[in-house]
Order: sequence, then structure tokens, then C-alpha cells
Amino acid sequence: MIGIFDSGIGGLSVFVEIRKLLPEESYIYFADNANCPYGGKSREFIIGRAREISEALIRSGSDIVVVACNTATAAAITTLRSEFSDPTNPLTRERVLSLSGGRRDHIRFIGMEPAIKPAVSLTKSGVIGVLATEGTLKAEKYRHTRDLTHGNVTVAEHVGEGFVELVESGELSGPHAEKVVGESLKPLLAQGADTIVLGCTHYPFLMDVIRKIAGPGINIINPAPAVARHLAEVYEEDVQGSAGQKDSGEEHLKLLSSGDDTLLKRFTASLL
Ligand code: DGL
Repeated sequence: MIGIFDSGIGGLSVFVEIRKLLPEESYIYFADNANCPYGGKSREFIIGRAREISEALIRSGSDIVVVACNTATAAAITTLRSEFSDPTNPLTRERVLSLSGGRRDHIRFIGMEPAIKPAVSLTKSGVIGVLATEGTLKAEKYRHTRDLTHGNVTVAEHVGEGFVELVESGELSGPHAEKVVGESLKPLLAQGADTIVLGCTHYPFLMDVIRKIAGPGINIINPAPAVARHLAEVYEEDVQGSAGQKDSGEEHLKLLSSGDDTLLKRFTASLL
């Protein structure tokens, strides 16, 4: 079973891509919407939530966990891997065996990567724009990836102010959504960006509005399909390939949330 989590419904943009590649698998999706948005929260808080949610996903039968949230990946994936992914560490091994009821001795984590590399190969203007949360843009992990461009391109950044709130309220189009999106996107276009990276899993739900404002000549990159391909490879090698770890296939998609699940259910139903 594949476990997926996000601060809210944003991670469903990753789930739909994964499901295209692994349609027969069972999934469990956790939306931490009681604590959404993560974007302005402290690293310590996000690590605490990521740990607790991962434990819940492992207890519920997950064989692998997708951190379908750029902010949580940037803050917590190193900690999650050190606490759950190393079967040669006796403490980690015992903990995972106990959480999984003896099914597994380690759990691999797949995170979101800011798609800076593909953006660098696409840009003609030499300016790429990154839209992400404050937490992602401030994180060491993101800055490291960005700095690998070695100054070959200019990376312009902007927090997608209010984007997560739009998606979490189901407002994906209309004049208000266009105004909110325009306020963060236009400064990147004004700096000459011809390629925009969506560095938050909520943002692809605003793709129509983003395309409308950006216009036809601008590349918009959603990293979810690349993350799904990576997950499928690791799942094959680490879960399906190992004897006795086959999915039970009892339930196809289980939804969990820390808050009101009305929108989660509605979005999931329309996506499937
Ligand atoms: N969807 C998340 C991300 O990819 C989190 C957004 C938020 O909760 O601020 O960053």
C-alpha cells in the first residue's frame, strides 16, 4: 500500500499522477488540514507533524510513504529517512517492525523536488520563476538545489500568497482567484521569467488560472509526473520486488484527515 500525505488536498495532484502509473495499487491519503497551511509554520512543527503522520500511515499498512508536499519535504524528509528508512540501525528497525506489525523493517520516503533542473533546460530567456511557500523558499534543501544552477540562469522566486487558501476553499477559477494568482505570478513575468516552476503541490489545481495569466509563451512545470515516475521505480524495487510484501488490495483508496474532510472527499471523487 502506498501512503501519501500533505497539509491538505494539494498532494492529490501527486496522487493522480502516481495512480496513472500504478492503477492497481491501494492508497492511503492523509490530509493534515487541521494544520493547513504549513507554509508559514516552523520547521520543528512540520517535522513533528510529518513524524506523527508517517507513523499513522505505517500503522495503517503503508509500505512506502510519499511526502506530497514541498514544504514538508524541505523541512522533514531527512529526519523521516533517518528515523524510518535504515534497517541496519537496530533502533529504526525495531520501531518500524513494531509500527508495521512485523510487515516491514524499513520504509522508504519519496519527496517533492523543486523542478529547477528541467526548468533550466527549457528556459530561453535565462530567467526561471519559482512559486512556492515561504517555508520551501527559506529551506536549506531548496536553496541547495537552486544554487546548483551555478548562476547559469537567474532564479526569480515568489511566495504564492493565498494560493493554498484558494485551493483549500475549492476556488479554482474566477476573477478573485485570478487577482490573487496575478499578484504573485506577475512579478516573476515582469522579471523576464519564461518558465515557471510550481513548487507547491496545491498550485497545479490553479493551472488554468496560472496559464491564463502567464499567456501562451510561458512554460509551466508541475513536478508531480516526475515524482510519480521516481516513486514507481522505488516501489517496484523496494516493495513489489520483495517477497511477501504484496499489497492486500482490500481497499483501493482510504482517506484520512485531521480536520473536516468534505472537500477532500469531493476532490477525490471528481479526480477518480
Ligand atoms: N502543498 C504543500 C506544499 O507543497 C503545502 C502548502 C501549505 O500548506 O502551505 O508546499
